[in-house]
Amino acid sequence: MNILGIETSCDETAAAVVNGGHIVRSSVVASQTAVHHPYGGVVPELASRKHLEVISQVVSEAVERAGISNNKLDAVAVTQGPGLIGALLVGFSFAKAYAYALNIPCVGVNHLEGHIHSVFLESDSPAFPFIALLVSGGHTGIYHVTSHTRCELLGQTRDDAAGEAFDKVAKMLGLGYPGGAVIEEISRKGDPYRIQFPRPYLDKADADFSFSGLKSAVRRYIETHDFKDHIPDVVAGFQEAVSDVLTFKLTQAAMSRQCSRIAVVGGVAANSRLREKVKASAAGKGLSVFIPSLAYCGDNAAMIAATGYHYLQAGHACGLTDDVYSKVPGSQLS
Ligand code: KG4
Ligand code: ZN
Repeated sequence: MNILGIETSCDETAAAVVNGGHIVRSSVVASQTAVHHPYGGVVPELASRKHLEVISQVVSEAVERAGISNNKLDAVAVTQGPGLIGALLVGFSFAKAYAYALNIPCVGVNHLEGHIHSVFLESDSPAFPFIALLVSGGHTGIYHVTSHTRCELLGQTRDDAAGEAFDKVAKMLGLGYPGGAVIEEISRKGDPYRIQFPRPYLDKADADFSFSGLKSAVRRYIETHDFKDHIPDVVAGFQEAVSDVLTFKLTQAAMSRQCSRIAVVGGVAANSRLREKVKASAAGKGLSVFIPSLAYCGDNAAMIAATGYHYLQAGHACGLTDDVYSKVPGSQLS
């Protein structure tokens, strides 16, 4: 079954063709970083306009690179939410129209479940159940995943998402947007132990996070120190603190659920310090680790197609009047 995936929830216009829920035939991602860079964050109105400009071309490229024709597509899977409403609407409307024209089903996908499914795009993927740490620009949470369509939220951030904290710290230091990759790069030249930023573990027993205190600690440091000659040490210290907390909470959740498999997904999963720390901690505890390759950590449409496959198998599909959502009230995946 060949599924065309489409993703436009934030600032990436992406399309992919995935076979059987895990074999990626093509994955195209058009990033809008250059559009938002001057503003230090995503400008929703500009994001929608840019999606509109490029979506048709991105989808054609994905189908072409997959080496198939449109009549070999069996379904379309598209991000329905959560995300920026205007941005989501571009992809969702396009997907419904595309599927209607080809007379194939269209299925709406939750973006967060999409990230969790990114681990199934790799040849070595986890069996159920597993504990997933989802760390992106908009969300940070730990989930107990029991099937392709079921997961339970064990804990989440009470304030900023981990990626958001990276972006804000980069912004306060004038390092540009998006901050995660820049901080990782600059940290390579820094000493992660020179400045001891707080590790906000909150109540040590639960799986909740808080990053706003850590972000404020960085702000206080730069307001009270002549930091300009050691920016790499500042960002390396910050990255170390975030990585320590995420690693601790993830492995602790796995131990308390007696689950031997853990996964890290979302844009921040691209961070090599976090990847190293999770792997080292897991090795000491006998846990198996699953982290997608860099291409599938950030927003992409292959993960959306992979998720859509399982929802279609379970009998889901959306109608022409279905709409996008920015958040689902009461949902664990918003
Ligand atoms: O999953 P994603 O592409 O989009 C959302 O769903 O939010 O995640 C984007 C986030 C941004 O906050 C970005 O700064 C962060 O992922 N990020 C990183 C790295 N690459 C991207 N954070 C830390 N280290 C990285 N290498
Ligand atoms: Zn995302």
